[in-house]
Parts: sequence; structure tokens; C-alpha cells
Amino acid sequence: MSIIGIDYDKCNTCGMCVLECPPMFKRSKSDNKVIFDDPTGRCIRCGHCISLCPQDAILFDDFGEEHYSFEGIDDLSNYIPYEKLYNFLRANRSIRWYKKKQVPIDLIKKVIAAMEYTPTSANLRAEKFAVVSDIEQLKLLSDAVKEELLKNPATRSMYEESFQIRGELYEYQIYFDAPHVIFVYTSGNSAMDHYNIANTVTYGRLAAQSLGLGTCYNGWTHIAFENNPKLSKIVRLRGRSWGVFTLGYPNVKFYRCPPRKHRKIKFLNE
Ligand SMILES: Cc1cc2nc3c(=O)[nH]c(=O)nc-3n(C[C@H](O)[C@H](O)[C@H](O)COP(=O)(O)O)c2cc1C
Repeated sequence: MSIIGIDYDKCNTCGMCVLECPPMFKRSKSDNKVIFDDPTGRCIRCGHCISLCPQDAILFDDFGEEHYSFEGIDDLSNYIPYEKLYNFLRANRSIRWYKKKQVPIDLIKKVIAAMEYTPTSANLRAEKFAVVSDIEQLKLLSDAVKEELLKNPATRSMYEESFQIRGELYEYQIYFDAPHVIFVYTSGNSAMDHYNIANTVTYGRLAAQSLGLGTCYNGWTHIAFENNPKLSKIVRLRGRSWGVFTLGYPNVKFYRCPPRKHRKIKFLNE
């Protein structure tokens, strides 16, 4: 189930839903009433109708939660102005040194809660989440991922030397001895899975930063799992597409944003 219909005690027939989501919402020719009509089940449950109805007249079911609002939702540029967001994004760093301290479960849940609001293609929301905090499992996986990457001549030439040096610094170097590794994965078969997962990881990483936590995207695991899907069994997970990142309290401080080359933008309007 998704959108069930319209609460006509509340609806003032403004037609915002008709504008936002034709043909699911339309006006009845006989009495101009707004109706929701989706006989073929095309609604992707994006919820725009719920969000924009000024009368809160959209009836829905099985969305997993009630709708939610907060002071300032109608002017998000005031809520987090660009300068704040720009600095927050610029200052985001991949963290490869972590304190030996577990992140409380409620903070991990907050990171995952933010990931659940990632936009996904056709609102599929097929991603699953797993948090691995068992150090023995992480050691096994780290060794297996490293071995897999060193098997392949292309990845071996890229990583062999740094793995050797860093191997002496960490117990499970692929995950930088982070106390937690988060797996975002799907068993689906959509051409968009990788994009959806990458966006989801980014939401999680930024949410973690706002909680004082550090993260590092772990493409190594992704490459190793693609080469050898059996490796995911070490952490008892099954999937087709993977996004993996480390999570913990950073044991390093950054004092400035590194310079980045600004790219030439093509403005194709002439
Ligand atoms: C998709 C993706 C995969 C990455 N995989 C790894 C990885 O496997 N190991 C690693 O140490 N860093 C990894 N990184 C981190 C990048 O190396 C890092 O973002 C880049 O060097 C810039 O540094 P910064 O994130 O601190 O600004 C990855 C980043 C992205 C976006």
C-alpha cells in the first residue's frame, strides 16, 4: 500500500498534488474534486504529495513512519546557509586514524537514520545496512581483502608498497583499526545500484561528521568483493553491490582544508 486517497474533510482542492504528480492525482471532470487514481500501481511512494499538501489531506499507509516537520522547513537556506554547508563539506576528510573507543549504538543508529533519507532512483530504497564491530571478523576480512587486491597485478602495483608500510601500523590495516565498519549493500539488479549506494554512503559520512565521528570510504572492499563475491561471507553478508566505510572517533585533527583545483565550468547558454 502507499497513498490511499484524500481526506476530503481537509482538502481545499488547491490542486498542488495535481501539479506535482500527474497522472496519479487528477481533477474529476464532474465536480472538480481532486482524486488519487493509480490503478496500475505506478506510485513510487516519493511522498511529495504528502510533503506539499498545505491541508495535510493526503492519506497514506505503510510508509514506515508518520510524516515529520520542523521549524524552518519552508526556508532551508536559512536553516543551514550555504557558507556553513560549504565549509562543512570542504572540511570533510577521510579518517585513517581512530581512537580505540566504540561508538555508542545510538550514534551509529543516527548515522544510519540519515542514510535512510538518501534519494534513490525511482525511490527504490533497496539498500541494506550492516555494522560490523567484531574485531576478529574485521581482521579476517582485512587480510582477505588485502590478499585479493594483491592477487591482481593492476591493484598490486598500486597498493603493495603502501600496504607493506601501513601493515606495520595497524592490526587490520584495510579498516585502519576503526572500531566499526558499515556496509551498505543491495542484492538488487538495478543499473542505478552503485549510484544509490555511493550517495547513501556520502549521507552517512556527512552525518557522522556532524556527530564528531570520522569515516573513510573503503573502495578496497568494494573492489575485492566484486572480484571475489565469496569474501562477503566472512562477515556473513550477501549482496551484489557494495559501499563500505569505516566509522569511529578520529584520532587526528585537521586545521585547514587542502587546496583543490577548481575546474573550468562550461556554461552552454550562448
Ligand atoms: C568511492 C571512494 C572510494 C575510496 N576508497 C578508499 C580506500 O579504499 N582506501 C582509502 O584509504 N581511501 C579511500 N577513499 C578516500 C579517498 O582516497 C579520499 O577521499 C581522497 O584521497 C581525498 O581525501 P579526503 O577525503 O580526505 O578529502 C575513497 C574515496 C571514495 C570517494
